[in-house]
Amino acid sequence: CGIVGYIGSQNSQEILLEGLKKLEYRGYDSAGIAVFTSQGLEISKAKGRIANLEAQLNDAPLRGSAGIGHTRWATHGRPSDVNSHPHTDDTQKFSVVHNGIIENYIALKEELIAAGHVFVSETDTEVISHLIADLYDGDIVVAVQKAVKRLTGAFALGVLTEFEPDKLVAVRLASPLIIGVGEGENFIGSDIPAILEYTRDVYILQDGEMAILTREGVELRTLEGNYISRELFHVDWDIVTAEKAGYAHFMLKEIHEQPKAYRDTMGSRIDAAGGKIIFNELKLTPEQIHKIDRVHIVACGTAYHAGLIGKNAIERLARIPVEIDVASEYRYRSPIITPQTLVIVVSQSGETADTLAALREAKRCGATVLAITNVVGSTVAREADDCIITWAGPEIAVASTKAYSSQLIAFYLFSLYLAQVKKTQSSEYITEVITALRALPEQVETILGQFEQIKNFAEEISTHSDLFFIGRGMDYAVAQEGSLKLKEISYIHSEAYAAGELKHGTLALIEEGVPVIALATQEDLFEKTVSNIKEVKARGANVLGISAEDEHEMIKSVDQHFAIPKTLGLLTPALSVIPLQLLAYYASLALGNDVDKPRNLAKSVTVE
Ligand code: G6P
Repeated sequence: CGIVGYIGSQNSQEILLEGLKKLEYRGYDSAGIAVFTSQGLEISKAKGRIANLEAQLNDAPLRGSAGIGHTRWATHGRPSDVNSHPHTDDTQKFSVVHNGIIENYIALKEELIAAGHVFVSETDTEVISHLIADLYDGDIVVAVQKAVKRLTGAFALGVLTEFEPDKLVAVRLASPLIIGVGEGENFIGSDIPAILEYTRDVYILQDGEMAILTREGVELRTLEGNYISRELFHVDWDIVTAEKAGYAHFMLKEIHEQPKAYRDTMGSRIDAAGGKIIFNELKLTPEQIHKIDRVHIVACGTAYHAGLIGKNAIERLARIPVEIDVASEYRYRSPIITPQTLVIVVSQSGETADTLAALREAKRCGATVLAITNVVGSTVAREADDCIITWAGPEIAVASTKAYSSQLIAFYLFSLYLAQVKKTQSSEYITEVITALRALPEQVETILGQFEQIKNFAEEISTHSDLFFIGRGMDYAVAQEGSLKLKEISYIHSEAYAAGELKHGTLALIEEGVPVIALATQEDLFEKTVSNIKEVKARGANVLGISAEDEHEMIKSVDQHFAIPKTLGLLTPALSVIPLQLLAYYASLALGNDVDKPRNLAKSVTVE
């Protein structure tokens, strides 16, 4: 979910709507705003995209210069008008927008119902508005402080009351929230782009802090009421980078930005002579690195798939055993974490609740935590002991592309760095890998130039309801990412299979015409994968093979072949994933789907 708020002298409706559009990537199954109008606190909300709310507001505008807004990704209660935020209480004098989850809402709801409150929605958020109303005794700040003490969970809140129309109260507890400071007007937002059009001066709220906004200024306090003084943070990046720059979709733009993302992520982390990795930003010392006896990689979704390649790179280059988990499972299997464990959390947004929870658990158990994230100042970046930023730039499309591939680059660099410190590889080999890394951006450009071939295949497969991705070793890891990408935006069911495992069951599903995308980029596994391709071919599969350009045996064995430029086996995922991203994009396009905003998904999931 995303929240936004405004108090100033302009009409708040437009500002809230613009902010919500920027936040739509955080979820978009309903949206709403509450505004102080001449009639009092009025709410307008609508199921579906923000455009629905906008249409509703065009017919019945809410005029007033203070308000809060919300775009929702359903957790408690299905997407509907009544479950949309803002929520209010029986008196309709209080209004709340909320991002996160209130874990003890059932107990609180029962208590409030017993006290005479009447609830209209199925959400956990409605409890907050009733609770604040219940505790209100003439001071909204005190009422919010008291209410928050009763809530457990993770949340960010924006609160308004008709009794104090010159105040907007915001709270942060484990869900992101920033405060924008303008002249005669102030803002709240779940992230910086939501308010960047209006101000570049922000406070980044920390957990357990609240902000009291008036037209004249912003007061920061702890939830206990102590005043906080903090420097304003000046944002110097450009909102234009977050726009589509002429591409039909953000996803296509982001796919095409990968050469730059690779170059920027490598940047100054490779020395000028190309023989050494430099990680000036790391606090992790060589002494600490020598002591690391195991690595855990923890992430969700696409970032998890990047972790699969990371595991391979670290084990191969630095010879340290690596375990990998999806974040939502990690805590619950009692992983063995010691002070010698390095836990690497990977997160594009740096705000994913599951990943954050795993990070905190790892820290609690004494591990050193390294974050690989794309967002400077994100919660993950701040809470980890160390942080490697992927310089992919803002990623807007829900389906991650350039963030994933930049995470691969970050893993390659970090694995090489470990190898350099631990001397597990010769300096000649390290130089060889660095040289190959530096060639990747241009190789990606070559692949992007051949998009037509993938587009044709994508159109061909878009009429199918099932397909398979196969590969061995790192090709299998890339196959998993290719399959996820296709499912996310085309809604075509697909499965990724370790090529050698297919014959142990799934081969039963292969019949005449079933599309199979086979990756065979790893020299040492090549022949074995080609045998597996022959197995599916023999059952009638329509195979798109992806391998290096000169693999004639492969070219002979498949129906269509897509060639990727030659690189080291270890680095091929950074190339072979590109045609799979294009495949998902063009299949989604052929099906007429909303490529950038697939149904049921959110870019950043800040609930567990
Ligand atoms: C959501 C997105 C996925 C993403 C995952 C992890 O589910 O839809 O595309 O991979 O979160 O996000 P993160 O920001 O932690 O990388």
